[in-house]
Amino acid sequence: MKKWILYPQEVIKKRVFEVSKKIEAAHKNQQNNLVMICVLYGAVFFFTDLVRNINIPMTLDFIRASSYGPRLNSSGTVEITKNIETDIQGKSIILVEDIVDSGLTITHLIGELEKENPESIQVCALINKTERREIPIQIDYSGFKLTEGFVIGYGLDYDQQCRNYPDIYVLKDEENE
Ligand code: PRP
Repeated sequence: MKKWILYPQEVIKKRVFEVSKKIEAAHKNQQNNLVMICVLYGAVFFFTDLVRNINIPMTLDFIRASSYGPRLNSSGTVEITKNIETDIQGKSIILVEDIVDSGLTITHLIGELEKENPESIQVCALINKTERREIPIQIDYSGFKLTEGFVIGYGLDYDQQCRNYPDIYVLKDEENE
């Protein structure tokens, strides 16, 4: 496998700052009502960089979902393996993802969190990857839009490796070039 830099760390930093300021502007009048939820593990670096640039009161929490079975269609099953611990009733939620691909994970998480009666749920994704989208999903705050490609680094993994790379790379299978 070969890899090429897709988004260098300086580009990521600038874009994450811009997204932070959009969220800050949109939520600045919601005193003590904002709950930012990181979807583990992939979003961890995006989340920590993002929230530190949003200068309004907020609560942070973490959730983890695992997917099982073939993800070729919407029969793929998503299960929450670590849930939030915050009471989100009446709160404004922003779910923070590293990447939305098929849309299965985020759709499942929204469905589960809606049962807790929050005031609203928005989605913030560093990468909105569109080619394999199966479920239409509104992404309220998006860092980068990507059509296709297997991306790694800045939290995104290849078989649980490479998450610690500061830049985001796209992997290319040399046989298919
Ligand atoms: C990745 C990513 C999203 C999901 C997106 O998580 O972080 O949560 O897949 O894919 P989808 O839109 O097709 O559902 P993964 O299950 O690989 O876990 P990870 O974040 O721990 O890497």
